[in-house]
Order: sequence, then structure tokens, then C-alpha cells
Amino acid sequence: MKLLVTGGAGFIGSNFTRMVLAERLTWEVVVLDKLTYAGRMENLQDLQGDPRFTFVKGDICDPSIVSETMTGCDGVVNFAAETHVDRSISDAFSFVRTDIDGVRVLLEEFRKEDRTLFLQISTDEVYGSVETGRSTETDLLAPRSPYAASKAGGELLAMSYRTTFGTPVVVSRASNNYGPCQYPEKLIPLFLTNAMDGEPLPLYGDGLNRRDWLFVSDHCRALLHILESGEPGQVYNVGTGREHTNREITEAILTVTGADRSLVRYIDDRPGHDRRYALDVAFIERSLGWKPEIGFEEGLQLTVDWYRENRSWWEEIKSGKFREYYRDMYAERLRDSRGE
Ligand code: NAD
Ligand code: TYD
Repeated sequence: MKLLVTGGAGFIGSNFTRMVLAERLTWEVVVLDKLTYAGRMENLQDLQGDPRFTFVKGDICDPSIVSETMTGCDGVVNFAAETHVDRSISDAFSFVRTDIDGVRVLLEEFRKEDRTLFLQISTDEVYGSVETGRSTETDLLAPRSPYAASKAGGELLAMSYRTTFGTPVVVSRASNNYGPCQYPEKLIPLFLTNAMDGEPLPLYGDGLNRRDWLFVSDHCRALLHILESGEPGQVYNVGTGREHTNREITEAILTVTGADRSLVRYIDDRPGHDRRYALDVAFIERSLGWKPEIGFEEGLQLTVDWYRENRSWWEEIKSGKFREYYRDMYAERLRDSRGE
């Protein structure tokens, strides 16, 4: 199997590429990544020199680079995306471009040859905020942020190629991931690194929004199952079926880092903030025999260990352009914040 992994220099894509090369010894991986602010060559450093690994810097919206890199590939796993909800609220353009039009460019190239599978990585956010019960794969999509709407557009487009052209497309919808190499704009790495530095932990609203937290290696393993045994035309939810409020996550981070609880700040909420995501994962468990293996406490400990051992990775990010982003996103809200 020769796989094209787009977005492979990002958080989940790099963990997935590492798992594939370590556990599928005959497979080759070509990573295509634009190296946006979120894509980091350091995430793939240990794989350089592996003859089964190739890296190409390029944009999935560029048909010529996509054509060049997809040559000879049997399967495509599309992780490439703009991924942060808060950034999508500030400016949706790059989200619509990459998360929808980029998928079109990949699909057009994919269907030129006889290939095995196009795996479109989607998200539980396409279901919208789920007040009660759990989302199943056949539920109607009701995305509420520009990020979620763009991801819904991307996966619907992918499935339309299945219906229209018979393209072997499969879609996965995972819950919130956490683990090594996650860019520190997202809740867990932001709070972990802020706690290690004695900086505030800015909780949005009342801190009672709920998410299903999935350790990244569990997600990557599910994707391997889907690649090897998934059925074209299917959608697979990937999550743990358990949920935590953001306050609970914050408590766990205070405990594991030993940081002082006076760091916790309640700040103005994110506009349109989805209250709850919750997945029904019975289908992937039943049809592919996948189950998450890492519980939240263990996963958080593994994550803290990684951020402790890789301080230079996140200090370089946080001392660069991220500072401007952080100031624009948080400075005023932190001035008006309240503690517990
Ligand atoms: P990330 O932001 O860490 O990485 C995204 C990667 O895509 C980066 O390496 C970036 O350089 C690359 N990229 C962006 N635009 C590109 C373009 N136009 N062409 C080529 N490369 C481009 O994201 P992540 O958290 O690793 O998420 C990966 C995928 O998983 C995304 O599709 C996301 O929607 C999905 N997902 C993420 C989560 C989560 O909790 N992180 C949960 C469910 C689904
Ligand atoms: P995030 O990691 O941005 O993922 P998503 O919004 O895609 O689920 O946020 C996870 C939860 O944490 C979400 O309810 C928003 C909240 N949050 C905060 O309270 N403060 C923060 O600084 C961030 C980044 C997120």
C-alpha cells in the first residue's frame, strides 16, 4: 500500500504517519503538507531518512502538486485542514478554501486512476451541539461554526463523489483529540503549557461545555482499521462514548501539573459555542472491532510527559507569531475575567 497522507505535518497526521510506518512494514507514506502555522516539520523529524517516507511541501488546493504527489498512491487519507474554531470565527476564508475546495481538488485527482480508498477525516462537530443523547452516523448534520460547516461541506462533497462517480470514499467523524504534538491553541495543550508557565487558564463562559476526549493514538488506530476493513460509502464515528466538562479537564490539568487554582479565569464565551458533543460509537466497535485503549487519566499523563520532555517544541511556537494571536484572542477578555 502506498498512502498519500495530506496534512501529515500536523497533530493527528504526524501521529498517524508514525504509526503506519512503525506498524505496517510494507507500506509507504507520502506526506503532502502546506506547512501552515499548524504544520511543523519537527513533528516528522524522526521519520526523515526512512526510505518508505517522503515529504512534499504543497497545498491541497493546487491541482498540479496534488497530481504529482498522488501518482502511484493507492489510498489517500485527508487530514489537511484549517482546524481551530476560534480562528474560523475571526476569518472563515481559509477554512472554506482548504476544508471544502481542497477536498474537491483531491477527489478530482483521485478519480483519474483506479485506487483503493479515499478516507476523509471529519469531525463530530458536523452534528452541531447535541443537548441530549448521542450522535449516530445517520443523524442529520447541523454544523454551527464556520469550521464545522466547512468540514461538513468537505465530507458531503466527498460522499457526493461516491454517489456520482462511484469513488471509493469513506468518512470518519472523530471527537476531540489530545496527545503529543498538538498545537497549543487547543484547550488541553494551551492549558497544560500555560499551567507549566504559571499563566492563566482562560475558561470560556461557565466552563460547563462538554466534549468526548479521544487520545490521538486511539484515533490513529481506528483509522488503520477503517483503511483496512472499512466499507466504501460508510461513515464511522470515532470516540470514547465518555464526556468531560471543560471544568473537569481544567481540574485534571491542575492536579497533574501541580499548578495553583488561582490561575483559572472565566472569560467571555466563544460566539455560538457548542454546548456538547457526544458520539455513539457502537457502529465502529461492532463492524470493525475497534475500541479505545487509553483512558483519560492515562492519556493526560502521557500528554503531560510529552509536553514536559518537549518544552522547546512549544516554547518556540508560543514565543513566535502565536503571541500576537494569543493577545488578540485573550488579552481583553482576561482583563475582564473572574476567578473561581
Ligand atoms: P492541525 O491543525 O494540527 O494540522 C493540520 C495540518 O494540515 C497542518 O500540518 C497544516 O499545515 C496542514 N494544512 C492546512 N491547510 C493545508 C493545505 N491547504 N494544504 C496542505 N496542507 C494543509 O490539525 P489536526 O488537529 O491534526 O486535525 C487533522 C484533521 O483531523 C483535520 O481534518 C481535522 O478537521 C480533523 N479532526 C481533528 C480533531 C481534533 O481534535 N484535533 C478531531 C476530529 C477531527
Ligand atoms: P477546542 O480545543 O478549541 O476544541 P473544539 O472547540 O473544537 O471542541 O476547545 C475545546 C473546549 O474548550 C471548547 O468547549 C472550548 C473550550 N475552550 C476554553 O474554554 N478555553 C480556551 O482557551 C479554548 C482554546 C477552548
